[in-house]
Amino acid sequence: MRPFFPASVILVLTLFHSSQALGKKRQTCRNVPGSAEYPNAQAWSTLNKTISGRLVTAVPSAKYCASIGGCTDAQWGSALFRNTIPGAMNQVNFEQGYDLKPASLCLRDSTTCAQGDVSLYSVEAQTAGDIQAAVKFASAYNLRLAVKASGHDYLGRSTAPNSLLIRTSHFQNIAFTDAFYVGTQNLGSAVTVGSGVHLQDLYAQAKNQGKVVVGGSAATVVAAGGYLQGGGHSALAPLFGLAADNVLEFHIVVASGALLQVNKNSYPDLFYALRGGGAGSWGVIVNATVRTFPTFSGTFSQIELGATTNAAAGALLAVHAQHIFDLDAVRGGQYFYLEKPGNVSVLVINTFTANTTLDEGTALLTPLLNDSLAVPGVFLVEKLIVTLSVNDALHMADDVAGVNIVMGSRFVPEAAYKNPNAPEIVAKIYEDLLDGGAQQILGNLVAGGQVSANAGISSAVHPAWRTAKNHFIVVNPWDDSASAAEIAATRTKFQDSQAAIIERLSGPNAGSYSNEGDIFEPNFQTTFYGPNYAKLSAIKTRYDPKDLFIVAAGVGSERWDATGTCTR
Ligand SMILES: Cc1cc2nc3c(=O)[nH]c(=O)nc-3n(C[C@H](O)[C@H](O)[C@H](O)COP(=O)(O)OP(=O)(O)OC[C@H]3O[C@@H](n4cnc5c(N)ncnc54)[C@H](O)[C@@H]3O)c2cc1C
Ligand SMILES: *[C@@H]1O[C@H](CO)[C@@H](O)[C@H](O)[C@H]1NC(C)=O
Ligand SMILES: *[C@@H]1O[C@H](CO)[C@@H](O)[C@H](O)[C@H]1NC(C)=O
Ligand SMILES: *[C@@H]1O[C@H](CO)[C@@H](O)[C@H](O)[C@H]1NC(C)=O
Ligand SMILES: *[C@@H]1O[C@H](CO)[C@@H](O)[C@H](O)[C@H]1NC(C)=O
Ligand SMILES: *[C@@H]1O[C@H](CO)[C@@H](O)[C@H](O)[C@H]1NC(C)=O
Repeated sequence: MRPFFPASVILVLTLFHSSQALGKKRQTCRNVPGSAEYPNAQAWSTLNKTISGRLVTAVPSAKYCASIGGCTDAQWGSALFRNTIPGAMNQVNFEQGYDLKPASLCLRDSTTCAQGDVSLYSVEAQTAGDIQAAVKFASAYNLRLAVKASGHDYLGRSTAPNSLLIRTSHFQNIAFTDAFYVGTQNLGSAVTVGSGVHLQDLYAQAKNQGKVVVGGSAATVVAAGGYLQGGGHSALAPLFGLAADNVLEFHIVVASGALLQVNKNSYPDLFYALRGGGAGSWGVIVNATVRTFPTFSGTFSQIELGATTNAAAGALLAVHAQHIFDLDAVRGGQYFYLEKPGNVSVLVINTFTANTTLDEGTALLTPLLNDSLAVPGVFLVEKLIVTLSVNDALHMADDVAGVNIVMGSRFVPEAAYKNPNAPEIVAKIYEDLLDGGAQQILGNLVAGGQVSANAGISSAVHPAWRTAKNHFIVVNPWDDSASAAEIAATRTKFQDSQAAIIERLSGPNAGSYSNEGDIFEPNFQTTFYGPNYAKLSAIKTRYDPKDLFIVAAGVGSERWDATGTCTR
């Protein structure tokens, strides 16, 4: 490829490195508009030509909507629609520069719009060469770089103020094989997915092939984006292990601009990091190859129970805790969440059990349901039980987006639920969280079984996954009408009060899932990466010595300020 940046930039970078080598430690910053070394219009234009005109300016979603005469509520709230807007995040709060000085916002109804935390330009990559060119450009000009597949990230890691974005949404290849080779070894049935493929498309294509992959309960999350790098939980994980446990290979562009084929034989250290070491810290994934399994049907159920008071809700969740091992014999998966939209709480319990008949699936849930309905103040809202192909059971037609949401989470070890006092502790936790104003409390029974059995796999998956029973999440939403003080309080609510409440059950140092956690975790290194952090740091230095790929609470982020613009 022709060089497209001036030699003087290379010289500046070289000098910068030699001053570091002399041990002079000083704050350095990325180039932003206005910096002397920021690329001029000519440089951007040259980049654009190199990538066949695939450079676009990015704007906040509200500004985009205004430019097309307004978006409908359905569009605003659709993840599929938002995926057509380069600058958009699904949780729209991550587009806002709440922490910039001054704050820089673009709300849906605002009359003025600022760029906030939205990238300035997006490379709408279609080839690995586009990604390589963009990475080399960002590196040469010392730019803040962001990488996005779906914009679903709950920590806002796929956007950054003043950044150049590389978007991989256009990588839509899906290729199945019955014999995937790493070197001369046949690793069996697998699928290679581009880093723009939504889970729902992967499920649909797998169904046509009579196959299934370990994937999340989502329509538009991208497997080969952040999902696998975080570890990837699934209702099928108790049967087959975490999604990261089933990865066979990645193709990735690293900070040098090199395109690497990464598997257990080739760059095994990077292969280790890409499976659980945190999204966005290693390079730009072009595609990933994961194991497939023969498809099957099973029972999918959705049970909704109402609770008239916070105490009744607590008592209901205590009953749930008593039955938390009911699915273990069949390695079922369950997502349960308590919501409190008004005065009444509603517990929604979504369960999938493989290869069960309707009767068997119903029988597995009857003890929980019966005991729940015996709790004073608890009533049945709805009960749906159907037999479905597994490929249809794990997603809807779209995902909800366009909201303001942050979250925090803890792994709850199996041992915590074996404690005879667990139901009592659980009851009080839920009651206290609700009393404290929590609006949505999620539990994911997606561990145990093969997740535990896979403890010996050498990967960066947080070891807490291997002993966990529940991945416990509190979601904290707000409306645009909230005051700056209310928003600030909501964003720090998990650290200020909720984490300590959950730790009564999980214990301290329980750890948290980096894809569904809180950017304000004070000890993010151990909370998200457990004992793996030092090894991950060393791998980071090897593949990204200049910290091109920095995300909130990601490996190496301790060296940077909150926006990843200047070193600390
Ligand atoms: C509706 C919904 C349901 C979910 N369900 C589950 C679930 O069942 N199980 C589960 O484990 N998680 C689940 N998640 C969480 C999900 O794993 C994370 O939100 C994840 O970060 C999404 O990855 P993405 O690439 O789609 O998102 P993005 O926001 O595009 O990216 C997320 C992170 O990955 C990085 N990234 C994106 N693309 C690339 C790429 N090509 N190369 C390198 N880095 C990249 C970004 O820089 C960012 O750090 C769910 C999320 C949502 C919104
Ligand atoms: C990049 O080039 C294309 C095609 O020439 C053009 O439409 C687009 O506006 C250019 N991008 C920028 C940011 O100028
Ligand atoms: C995955 O990416 C690599 C590198 O660009 C490419 O050679 C390979 O063909 C891709 N595989 C599929 C199935 O798209
Ligand atoms: C909620 O409870 C309050 C106080 O008991 C009552 O005034 C209000 O009408 C209730 N709201 C709903 C939606 O039931
Ligand atoms: C489902 O049943 C089929 C037929 O008995 C079997 O081959 C398959 O392994 C089972 N799958 C699971 C996930 O239990
Ligand atoms: C559940 O309750 C129903 C109706 O009260 C009863 O017929 C059934 O025997 C109960 N089942 C179990 C497993 O307790």
